[in-house]
Amino acid sequence: MVVMFISLDLLRIKIEKLLVQFGITEMQAVKDNMVSLTSRNFIYPDAKLIIVDVNSGGFDAIEVISNLRKSIKSKHLPILALGNSTDSSVASKLIKLGCTDYMSKHFDDMAFASKVLDMMRPKENARPTTDDAVITIPQAPSEDRPLEYVKLTWNASFETGIEAIDEEHRSIVENFEKLYQLMSTGQGHDFYGELLGFLTGYIDTHFADEEAFQLKIGYPHLEDHIKRHQYFKERITAFIKTQSAPISNSDLIKLNLFIKDWLIQHILNEDRKIGDYYKQTQD
Ligand SMILES: [Fe+2]
Ligand SMILES: [Fe+2]
Repeated sequence: MVVMFISLDLLRIKIEKLLVQFGITEMQAVKDNMVSLTSRNFIYPDAKLIIVDVNSGGFDAIEVISNLRKSIKSKHLPILALGNSTDSSVASKLIKLGCTDYMSKHFDDMAFASKVLDMMRPKENARPTTDDAVITIPQAPSEDRPLEYVKLTWNASFETGIEAIDEEHRSIVENFEKLYQLMSTGQGHDFYGELLGFLTGYIDTHFADEEAFQLKIGYPHLEDHIKRHQYFKERITAFIKTQSAPISNSDLIKLNLFIKDWLIQHILNEDRKIGDYYKQTQD
């Protein structure tokens, strides 16, 4: 669960809509007049991340952060501060006060979602493992994104049990692995355009196939699933529009992380539900 100390405004609505697309559906927004009390008596045992708008105006963010860090029930939780400033000294001050990280409210959707997913990940899984290796590219880090990219290999947890869908998922993972391999030898830039081309074709055929299958079996969450697919289509279009020339390391990492978060969040959280439903209807 993500607990938000953000006033009811466009920012909160934007965040809620964005995180749902990444499989984060459990969000709790605390009303301004309850923020101070809630920060002293934290009541969300399922919380994995707290987001605080430090320029909300509806509460004293400094006091709230201090309370959260003192409370036994919240002191271990990551806090992502959001604010108006893009000045890195503001970020440093907030981190000294106890925030885990800071982002400007004028964030890039992808950068924000990646950060939230990273911060919600259990600490023991946040660093490299054999299946999820992380390599740092020697380049000055940007404010919003650590220059790390990740490896991901196909495993049984990706399987929906529907052969045709699994076969198509396998092809996206294979292309993702190819990107990783090429990035690790400095040749990722040459593959970037080809991969976007693949993704553009892939999402048309794969999403259509998957949606047709859901329709055929009477899957009750088809409408919601189509919306999630639509979001991914929009993001790929945005990648194509915003890529730099020549392709930068940052473009590669952004694509790598997006596909990975997409694969994990969407295939694991959403596509597998189709398989579960299908199995139930067959029993
Ligand atoms: Fe899907
Ligand atoms: Fe899928």
